[in-house]
Amino acid sequence: MNQTNVYIETMGCQMNVADTERAATRLREAGYQLTADPNAADVVLFNTCSVRARAEQKVYNRIGEIRRARTGRAPLLGVMGCVAQLEGESIFDHAPTVGLVVGTRATDRLPTLIERALSGEERQTLDLGERSEGDSWEVSPVERHSKHVAFVPIIEGCNKFCSYCIVPYSRGRERSRPATEILGELRRLHAKGYKEVHLIGQNVNSYHPQTEAGLEGVEGATAFSRLLRAAAATGLPRIKFTTSFPRDFHVDIIRAIDEHDNLCNWVHLPVQTGSDRILRAMRRGHTTADYISRVEALKRSRRNIALTTDIIVGFPGETPEDFADTLTLVERCQYDGIYIFKYSERKDTPAARLPDDVSEMDKSARFQALERAQQGIQDNLYRSYVGRTLSVLVEGESARSPLDVKGHTTCHKVVNFPGGGNLIGQLVDVRISSAKPHSLYGEQVLGGWCGASAASSSIV
Ligand code: 5AD
Ligand code: SF4
Repeated sequence: MNQTNVYIETMGCQMNVADTERAATRLREAGYQLTADPNAADVVLFNTCSVRARAEQKVYNRIGEIRRARTGRAPLLGVMGCVAQLEGESIFDHAPTVGLVVGTRATDRLPTLIERALSGEERQTLDLGERSEGDSWEVSPVERHSKHVAFVPIIEGCNKFCSYCIVPYSRGRERSRPATEILGELRRLHAKGYKEVHLIGQNVNSYHPQTEAGLEGVEGATAFSRLLRAAAATGLPRIKFTTSFPRDFHVDIIRAIDEHDNLCNWVHLPVQTGSDRILRAMRRGHTTADYISRVEALKRSRRNIALTTDIIVGFPGETPEDFADTLTLVERCQYDGIYIFKYSERKDTPAARLPDDVSEMDKSARFQALERAQQGIQDNLYRSYVGRTLSVLVEGESARSPLDVKGHTTCHKVVNFPGGGNLIGQLVDVRISSAKPHSLYGEQVLGGWCGASAASSSIV
């Protein structure tokens, strides 16, 4: 029996979380133990993100921290994920204590590599090329980050090449996972008692498998909307999906959500900017008018679909007028939430050839102005939930109070309410009593003898 302890630290997006789960499952199968304590580990792996410079720097900081915290024998240090894929062997020069570099396509094959590195073969690198054909994602992870919410990759990589973005280089071209494999995984998760799954990918609505096996006879205008309907038919209580790309966001996705209550009423649709000039420079392939027409279709839906977005401030050449257009768009779209990012130049992307000419001060000022504008919109929107009853999947204890638990609604809002650990993993109706800037607060609606309280309010 292998008594080697492995600690994996995940940075970045849900795709990395899913990769870590696959890697952990493989390692456990190969006889490794997984530990949550980096100081007790023989092998410390970092699953890294390179989408912005700050994210990339983080791995080097963490390597230093881990090294300093350890007094005894140094662990084998490994870098996997997007930084590994992009930087390759040059990581060994940056961080000489690293013994292992593993690209984004090789997470499944980690055990062999660790074994070789531990047996004294120094500086192992694996598979910085494309994922080989037939090297499918059929590992259905046993190790999951949660017992109630599971991430299921449906498409990996990106063919869009937005001018600022490193993802097409770190994750390579789009590859869709066979529908039979995805649906099989969903059925297994349902049988295990999972209440919520997130179908994940850089662009889920570009889903385009080589064959339609598993989707025969399913209705839908695109392969993705057919997959959504087939996923709904598995009976899983909640299905969410992220991220959507505006150009490929077909209205049939909204129809599918309207038809199936277990397809959740939340769409994350990054717009990046409200300026047509900057959208062109970003090579997004759509205009603000195209985007707004998608948003209007969403707002017309039968169900109240929550909408969130990503916005980059300070893209090269962004003027105060361009930024004013972004504020106008945000006002118009009435988002439920925005992730704001300061533009970060990424080496070898097309935008890196443009001067990064918006000063750090202007980037910060725009960031804050956008945050303030959104907070005003969000306050109103969140307040409109007060008095309504929402279904909440309880995921754990609240960070704020040990007397409260927290979870998400179908529209992906965080809700805290008084309750005990016995509720974790359950779907609970909660009547909202107050709104905080980024969360809601309420009380559990107990199914009384007449059930009137629940029946009289709308469940979103
Ligand atoms: N600089 C800043 N933000 C970026 N994003 C992607 N690349 C960059 C970059 N170079 C943001 C986009 C994307 C989100 C995941 O990260 O908004 O939607
Ligand atoms: Fe990056 Fe654009 Fe692809 Fe999103 S769609 S991953 S922003 S290149």
